[in-house]
Amino acid sequence: MTYLVSKPSSALISEATIPGDKSISHRAIMFGAIAEGQTRIEGILEGEDVLATLNAFELMGVGVDRPCPGVVTVEGVGKYGLSEPVRPLDLGNSGTSMRLLTGLLAGQRFDTVLTGDESLKSRPMGRVIEPLSEMGADIESQDNCAPLLIKGCSELQGIQYVLPVASAQVKSAVMLAGLYASGETSIVEPVASRDHTERMLRAFSQKRSEGSKALRISGDEKLVGQIVRVPSDISSAAFFIVGASLLPGSELVLKRIGINPTRDAVLRILTQMGAKISRSDIQDFTNEPVCDLVVHSSELYGIDISIQDVAGAIDEFPIIAVAAAAATGITRIRGAAELRVKESDRITAMVNGLCALGIEASETPDGMDITGGQIKGGQVDSYGDHRIAMAFAVAGGIASAEIKICDADNIATSFPDFVEIANQIGLNISESDSTEDV
Ligand code: S3P
Repeated sequence: MTYLVSKPSSALISEATIPGDKSISHRAIMFGAIAEGQTRIEGILEGEDVLATLNAFELMGVGVDRPCPGVVTVEGVGKYGLSEPVRPLDLGNSGTSMRLLTGLLAGQRFDTVLTGDESLKSRPMGRVIEPLSEMGADIESQDNCAPLLIKGCSELQGIQYVLPVASAQVKSAVMLAGLYASGETSIVEPVASRDHTERMLRAFSQKRSEGSKALRISGDEKLVGQIVRVPSDISSAAFFIVGASLLPGSELVLKRIGINPTRDAVLRILTQMGAKISRSDIQDFTNEPVCDLVVHSSELYGIDISIQDVAGAIDEFPIIAVAAAAATGITRIRGAAELRVKESDRITAMVNGLCALGIEASETPDGMDITGGQIKGGQVDSYGDHRIAMAFAVAGGIASAEIKICDADNIATSFPDFVEIANQIGLNISESDSTEDV
């Protein structure tokens, strides 16, 4: 099991390229696999979660090649060209792989078993099983958790579905199943969740145009292979945006970061707290806006985070909590109960860790209150959660003494080069196996 030790550091003055967006990488593989012809994915995230999706399609007979680092080609087999895998598909720690694949596989004519690690097997899958069953899917679970047995079926029926929680994974599972359904599937979201599936479908679909209704899908969509350029992941960039904001004298440039408006709430939240973040060189990468972000250090202040911003920053709350811990005043997060069913219970994980480092923090059922102060050195548990581990690694840079983070192996699920890039830009993090001294 890997430990990280993060020592206090000085200003981050650098330019960095962050690996590809995890959500977009998963979707590019999925659409590429069921499209006609080849898809070339440039800038793909080569993290464990995405590789789990890639391996799953290889086991279903899809030809995959990795001609050079960051590039994957997928030989699309068409919507009905996947073949029955000879063994269960092990999706490791990846909730996105499991939920989206459940939707995509619900309409196949063969059976599939989806499984994963202990964390993934404890996460709620009823939220996808319920609408997919309404469409006619036959899915067996362990009390609404994985392993899931998805039975082959001849055809699904389109439904109108009102999402009970703001979840891009549930929305995307229903959309992917909608590609295999008779009639139209339409989805209504209470709050907009990330819309990468809608944008990707527009790129791959022959019949979609700018004016198509993104959340209406029909079974007659024809998908054609594409060249997909994947933006750098704003969720990974967020760790260094907070680090640069908090370390006096910093000036950090992060290249080609995805700034999809359903994902950029972290920039809004940090700016409201006083962060100095500017955007330049805005471009389009396969229907996704990207830009270079320039971050200068600044004083941060506690705020009440708007409930409207929660879905758009759902993966960034661990590092937002670190920003709050170093800000002046109190930050309140509410309406974020979803944080309790991520790779760990991120409310408990952050509050316990911050308290262990001398910060006043408390839980509410759907959020947390954090009073800013001096983060002290100490030891924290990541609960096997990649984003908790990386958030506390950044906290070590601004703490008064080193922070030791236990159980950090899962960083490789979303950001395998985290330690290397962190050290290149000026943080001071070492990695060690628990059997060795750190
Ligand atoms: C994701 C959606 C989010 C996010 C996850 C990736 C996706 O989950 O937390 O890391 O790629 O669709 P929910 O859709 O469950 O909120």
